Amino acid sequence: MRFLTVSLVCVLVSACKSVQVEPLDIVPKPQSITMGAEVVSLDRGFRIWSSDRLMGDYLSQYFHVCTDSTDRRAQVFFSLSATLPEEAYTLTARDGRVEICASGYPGLFNGAQTLFQILPPDVLDARRVGRGKVFSRQCTLPSVDIYDYPCFSYRGQHLDVARTYIPIGRIEKFIDDISHFKINKLHLHLVDDEAWRIEIKKYPELALIGGYRGGDSPIFPTFCDFDKKYGGYYTQDELKSLVGFAAARNIEIIPEIDLPGHSMALGKVHPEFLCPVSTDTARTAGYDLRNVLCVSNEAVYSFLDDIFAEVTSIFPSEHIHVGGDEVRFSYWKSCPHCSELYRSRGFESYKQVETVFMKRMEEILAGYGRKLSVWNEAGEGDDLSKETYVHGWKNPEACRDMVGRGYKTIIMPGEYCYFDMYQSDREPGAVWNGVVDVWKTYSLSLEGYSPAELENVVGFEGAFWTELLAHNSKLIPNYFDYQLFPRLIALAEVAWTRDSLRNADDFRLRLEKSIYPLLDKMGTSYRADAPAPGPARLTPQMKCTTSFPLYEPKSDLKCISEYGTEVGAWTKRCCRKSDWILYEFTEPVSFNAMELVTGYHFIPRAHIVFGHVEASYDGSTFIKVADLEDGRASLGKMSGVKAIRIICDADGNGSDHMIIQCPRIY
Ligand code: ACM
Ligand code: ZN
Repeated sequence: MRFLTVSLVCVLVSACKSVQVEPLDIVPKPQSITMGAEVVSLDRGFRIWSSDRLMGDYLSQYFHVCTDSTDRRAQVFFSLSATLPEEAYTLTARDGRVEICASGYPGLFNGAQTLFQILPPDVLDARRVGRGKVFSRQCTLPSVDIYDYPCFSYRGQHLDVARTYIPIGRIEKFIDDISHFKINKLHLHLVDDEAWRIEIKKYPELALIGGYRGGDSPIFPTFCDFDKKYGGYYTQDELKSLVGFAAARNIEIIPEIDLPGHSMALGKVHPEFLCPVSTDTARTAGYDLRNVLCVSNEAVYSFLDDIFAEVTSIFPSEHIHVGGDEVRFSYWKSCPHCSELYRSRGFESYKQVETVFMKRMEEILAGYGRKLSVWNEAGEGDDLSKETYVHGWKNPEACRDMVGRGYKTIIMPGEYCYFDMYQSDREPGAVWNGVVDVWKTYSLSLEGYSPAELENVVGFEGAFWTELLAHNSKLIPNYFDYQLFPRLIALAEVAWTRDSLRNADDFRLRLEKSIYPLLDKMGTSYRADAPAPGPARLTPQMKCTTSFPLYEPKSDLKCISEYGTEVGAWTKRCCRKSDWILYEFTEPVSFNAMELVTGYHFIPRAHIVFGHVEASYDGSTFIKVADLEDGRASLGKMSGVKAIRIICDADGNGSDHMIIQCPRIY
């Protein structure tokens, strides 16, 4: 009785009252919103009806879904209307009801995401969703007419699960998160130098051995723990279930098997598929760094045919990504068979050898009714089918080049779309594309592209490479989300909303007012602002010397002594036990903190894996003050220090060099 009274009042209020109309904070911004002046009230206990059963199933995680459209409590209606383009939807809120129409599941799904954003944020409360306590509380929204559609059909996010094994449940959470921003492709990077993560039934050893590194694995542990075996792989059943989970969220998974380069893990399990060349293992403590498949070996192609038979049975995507990036041609140049192929065909560039390989991949995939996706280097050979999707990652020029060559191109230049990059110089992350903050991502535009060029742009994609994930997760809680949100949301709007409607200030307002509270409810972290600047650095006069032989010309110890480089100086070989790096100060120094880094600044790689730090107050007697962890150590306040020495305690570091850095003193 009380319920009836309350809802009657609500209906009366909605019929009579007009409100100060506030803009709706929807991301990505819809193409057309017309706000009305009324309030639409959804009563406590309201229900949703959907003419599409799958949509009803999806919505039932969030709402009470009723089976009968005449149910008196039904106030939100999802229905099919054949006239709308794929992925488009209309949403109308008026007269106490909300109606969402689309021509199929993708459009209904997009409409549902807009509905979530115009309801209170607790609609996506992670503590409630999926546990049967569905959202049905009384709420109001302004009357509105939305007509919306994506500018680009491919709105993707790449996830590298090769460098870091990410449990299936975490990938599912990620898929769910990105689906709320109308991302519709997940490019799943399953294989790289560091691991093979997909079960292949005909060659189970690929995942059983290739999915793990460290310990007794033949795959050297890079980026993370050196003294224990770690990793994992995905079974075919897990991946099939992931495909279904994603499809229910309008996301197609495009798997990547990165070939013919980036194949070190594959080569450790099946060395017979690498070029038969010897490598200089004296520099690497016996480790063989070959990572390129032998293009001239027929057995490689029947092996890959078997693999793609299974990959295509798991993933129904029209395109299968076969890599093609950063192939080290030096192995083909020294391979008797590949160099003979080059000579006999009269090639002028080893790019043409890569094209030979890619044409074979094209044939193999065509046998399974699929098309190629590749990184932009593979498109430079020019001969691939123009139905190939080329992922332009190197820079905006490479994207434009691929578009100009007539390839269907996915725009993802690293300077805008690589979400492993740091977001300011005070935050951890990769550095080689400079600072990529949310505003840089949001500024990505195809201004200047001709209509013919735009025809070849399929869409946009963000990339998340995970070399740094384990290390930086120790520095920033929820580093995974911190790197992805809100940059990924900015890219979602770039791909969805037409340029003339996009505005960074307005995007910021919508983020702060509505999207961050929604992410909070979803249990998804994000990076709202850059941290405050840290203390000023000190550069006391110092001389750096070392036992390592140095690699010319990247070996400028003078530059290290003068604190003149962030890149560091390269050695000619990997670490050996008792190698040392010595920093001698002209005058004794006192400091609040000193950070010592070996290897790259942004990643524990090419560093001294096992080592310690010593300090001296007289320049000749040294005492141990710290162990290196991930190649680095932090010293607290010290006074009157004359010298600091880093000592290497074990042979090898998984690389053919080590990098010396200058200390950071504060
Ligand atoms: C890439 O970043 N190597 C595609
Ligand atoms: Zn070869």
